[in-house]
Amino acid sequence: MRIVMIGTGYVGLVSGACFADFGHTVTCVDKDQSKIDALLNGEIPIFEPGLDELVANNVAAGRLSFTLDIAEVLPEADAVFIAVGTPTRRGDGHADLSYVYAAAEEMAPLLRDGAVVVDKSTVPVGTGDEVEKIIAKTAPDLKFSVASNPEFLREGAAIDDFAKPDRIVVGVNDDHAKEVMEAIYRPLTSNGALLIVMNRRAAELTKYAANAFLATKISFINEMADLCEKVGADVRDVAHGIGTDSRIGSRFLMPGPGYGGSCFPKDTLALLKTAEQFDAQQAIVEAVVKSNDDRKAAMGGKVIDALSGDAAGKTVAVLGLTFKADTDDMRDSPSIDIVRALTAAGATVRAYDPEGMEQAQKIDGLGADAITYCEDAYSAMEGADGLVIITEWKPFRALDLAKVKDLMAAPVMVDLRNLYSRKDVEANGFTYVAVGR
Ligand code: UDX
Repeated sequence: MRIVMIGTGYVGLVSGACFADFGHTVTCVDKDQSKIDALLNGEIPIFEPGLDELVANNVAAGRLSFTLDIAEVLPEADAVFIAVGTPTRRGDGHADLSYVYAAAEEMAPLLRDGAVVVDKSTVPVGTGDEVEKIIAKTAPDLKFSVASNPEFLREGAAIDDFAKPDRIVVGVNDDHAKEVMEAIYRPLTSNGALLIVMNRRAAELTKYAANAFLATKISFINEMADLCEKVGADVRDVAHGIGTDSRIGSRFLMPGPGYGGSCFPKDTLALLKTAEQFDAQQAIVEAVVKSNDDRKAAMGGKVIDALSGDAAGKTVAVLGLTFKADTDDMRDSPSIDIVRALTAAGATVRAYDPEGMEQAQKIDGLGADAITYCEDAYSAMEGADGLVIITEWKPFRALDLAKVKDLMAAPVMVDLRNLYSRKDVEANGFTYVAVGR
């Protein structure tokens, strides 16, 4: 199969490299000259474990290439994936589809008969219909199909998720598109992967429903964690107790500082907008969005409480800034609210993150003028009156607690990811605050 991937962002680049690795011929297209130049030089603009090697191997094998010139590659393509950004539109919370529609318009005169245009970007229900209309208007005689193929990759585990998916969801409204999509995924389905074919609107909604459901699970356990703290239970026991019921499932029941990232916050909001548009109620998702916003806003207070209720003039070591481990992504990270709350309360913040410090500095209130960025976890702790772990990076899981205590002015640890055993930390003379226990 000849595949063109439009957009070399996170989804486009990972999917393009993985499709090439299956043996397809893939060209990734982007309008951003500097991105394409970097990729042609073997530089990968995002941090994703294993991606640089996967790209390099497939470029060397001649299956993966990069170009600015859409006209050069589209006429040959069997399938054209749209993997451009769909950020939250300023002002109204709708997904901004202008990049998707611009891509459709641009490709229309260049497609060959039989081409399948596949939406991989996360798009609201009905976007496939709109893409179809745009192409048909520009190229009225063209025989083409539009499919939806949402991605469920997790940052930091994207390559593995792509190669071993729980399922692949494909939305098609005609047999030709179904056959092409089945051929594209045959290297995976012949290895046992489950491909679920449905109509286009159902596939579009499945993506939002999956993310909203996972966000609900997290918010549910976060609220249970708050209740556990009040009633004297350990949320890990409760999570284990409910998660072993196969109807519930044990994953995504880890309490923490609230979910962030490029998907859950954006997609839950976009789902609410879709519901509004179609006059349907989504009371649960609405509550989840509020619960998570409240939680992120409350976490700074939890740290300040651990500092005896007053952060003024105190120094706080912040370990981890990204919304989760193994990414450099700062989008909607709970650390943003926490750091802002600490500095607003008069604390000096010393922060360290293995990958996220460059992105973090671009965020309002997290600039290098507002907080001190340190070169490792231990230097962040020097002279600190409290330590807060926000992200579950591996190096933070096995800190030398005796050394930490020596470095800090006061041994207070707030562990927002439940990385430590209370017994161990307290045995080293710390005041220990965790989540839901
Ligand atoms: C998510 C979906 O998992 C993925 O299927 C979709 O394609 C994109 O959105 P991602 O945003 O990369 O992926 O991260 P994920 O690992 O799902 O975590 C999202 C957020 O939830 C993070 O802030 C994480 O810390 C938080 N989380 C996750 C919890 O607080 N507890 C959990 O048990 C799981």
